[in-house]
Amino acid sequence: MTTTNKTVPANRVFSGMQPTGSLHLGNYLGAMINWIAMQESHECIYCIVDLHAITLWQDPAELRQSIRKVTAAYIASGLDPKKSILFNQSQVPAHAELAWVFNCVARLGWLDRMTQFKDKAGKDKQRASVGLYVYPNLMAADILAYRATHVPVGEDQKQHLELTRDIAQKFNSDYSDGIAALGYNDGFFPLPEPVIQGAGTRVMSLRDGTKKMSKSDPSELSRINISDDADTIAKKIRKAKTDPGDLPSEVAGLDGRPEAQNLVGIFAALSQQSHDDILKDFGGGQFSKLKKELAELAVEKLAPIATEIAKLEADPAEIDRVLADGACRAREIAAPTIDQVKDIVGLLRS
Ligand code: AMP
Ligand code: TRP
Repeated sequence: MTTTNKTVPANRVFSGMQPTGSLHLGNYLGAMINWIAMQESHECIYCIVDLHAITLWQDPAELRQSIRKVTAAYIASGLDPKKSILFNQSQVPAHAELAWVFNCVARLGWLDRMTQFKDKAGKDKQRASVGLYVYPNLMAADILAYRATHVPVGEDQKQHLELTRDIAQKFNSDYSDGIAALGYNDGFFPLPEPVIQGAGTRVMSLRDGTKKMSKSDPSELSRINISDDADTIAKKIRKAKTDPGDLPSEVAGLDGRPEAQNLVGIFAALSQQSHDDILKDFGGGQFSKLKKELAELAVEKLAPIATEIAKLEADPAEIDRVLADGACRAREIAAPTIDQVKDIVGLLRS
């Protein structure tokens, strides 16, 4: 038995994004720009979560394409695979292995409370996949396989992060003796913190300011995709739903006006200004002026990314090489975690 106190790594960032559909402005403002900023100050691990994607049926050829497309979108947006680890979940077996252990730690009652399952399963939950139900356990495994401490996500993932903390805590307490015997006096898994920051943590649909902008919305007009061309972006913003009033001059005047709130919020996030600043410029005026300038701003920010994505997608072998290299580096960190989990739980390892 060792007496030294082993500690968890400080400040390790992990986040993931599903490779389904094309990435939209909500993904970009809610998640991606934070991920990119954090790579300057933290050790970062970013994952394309294909095992999560198949909790809903995916066309296999499209899924393969989407994995490469999302990888390209990350790199095009400024994620540097030399600074951060960028990889694909199914290429690192530790995720699925740890998820099984967590299936045995998490309680049915905890999963029953997950609102994302209720949203995605729809009315007939008997027909939902079992994978969709245990989705949050796999997400906990993604994060904890690296014993990550910080998880940048959009507002909608907060509940899943709370579950991750509950799983870490229960594992630490259920196996406290074995964990202490390995030399960890403060628990084996850290309790990871969600990092929900920036003006764009909840970007809403352009067709309905009370609904989240989402890949699964049947209306293309509801979202701006990162790869939309300038005309498409301008058209979607022009057609965005508004209300009959003028824009207010004070932030309080946005209350109860979800569409106005959303457009001002998107403007604020893209221009890195406050809501107040935006309303100083546009308050008292019509939506059309705000929309015109917002379209120009969105095109200015997104068009170079779209061009870069197209360039990267022309060389899929290079994307695969980046992912293979990322998986190799990820495995080196995750494999010792799994070995220790096996020791702690009482499983034999080869
Ligand atoms: P997903 O597309 O569901 O895999 O989400 C990937 C990341 O984007 C997560 O961190 C989400 O929280 C974030 N995200 C997705 N939709 C939005 C949205 N409408 N507003 C802000 N963040 C979002
Ligand atoms: N569930 C997240 C989403 O839909 C994606 C995800 C999977 C994730 N594993 C993760 C996010 C680990 C952060 C950390 O957006």
